[in-house]
Amino acid sequence: MPQGAGGAGAPRHVAIIMDGNGRWARERGWPRLVGHRRGAERVKQVVRACPDMGVEWLTIYAFSTENWRRSREEVVGLMGLFARYIRKEADELSKEGVRMRFIGDRSQLDRRLRDLMTGIEHRTAANTRLNLTVAINYGGRDEIVRAARRLAREVAAGRLAPDEIDFAALAAGLDTVGQPDPDLVIRTSGELRSSNFLPWQAAYSEYEFTPTLWPDFSPEELQQILARFAARERRFGGAKTR
Ligand code: IPE
Ligand code: IPE
Ligand code: MG
Repeated sequence: MPQGAGGAGAPRHVAIIMDGNGRWARERGWPRLVGHRRGAERVKQVVRACPDMGVEWLTIYAFSTENWRRSREEVVGLMGLFARYIRKEADELSKEGVRMRFIGDRSQLDRRLRDLMTGIEHRTAANTRLNLTVAINYGGRDEIVRAARRLAREVAAGRLAPDEIDFAALAAGLDTVGQPDPDLVIRTSGELRSSNFLPWQAAYSEYEFTPTLWPDFSPEELQQILARFAARERRFGGAKTR
């Protein structure tokens, strides 16, 4: 439904909690990393499909601040996968007009991965067809704490009065500074929780949950989800209009 007809229209910014790689692999008796590898293939397809669906911003949750609790083997495997994805996809993403950014605390990541991340951010900085943001070592509470520390330092230095702290001042210290809030958050694998993903930014986002495991998620399913979103009425605290 187009926006004029009372629906939400196409979401400009879609955020995805890509969950279920481990279960997908376990169902087949394979190591969890095989599921993550297949998941990365899915990312490529979904990224490619977004611009034609009217999506201008895509944010994907790849590794949370809590995911360090997994086995060393899985963590190392995931970090290697991120590095390979950036290296292998750099040309393709640049050609397709994708601007790639990262959110999360980079200070705990391997130096080589960090360099790859900044490298592709610079290389794709002028692209405008799709804004792809990947959350690596991202946790919403951690992000808010880091932003709060920044503000506290400004206050302590006498550059900011406590009463000057408003939504904009706090948002300016988040990793997502300058990025629009997600209109729609999708979580795969049937879990009904947000797992510390964009708690500030998704305060008024719409949510969709699908039982599909991430390695089975397709552009066709995304299309169906977007069609349902288009018919929704977003109220942002206002009164019902239809
Ligand atoms: C999501 O899949 C990917 C990451 C969290 C890195 P999972 O690895 O969480 O898969 P399940 O939830 O165990 O099936
Ligand atoms: C959320 O999935 C993090 C990512 C998709 C990267 P998890 O699998 O880590 O979340 P929980 O532990 O089920 O809440
Ligand atoms: Mg999971």
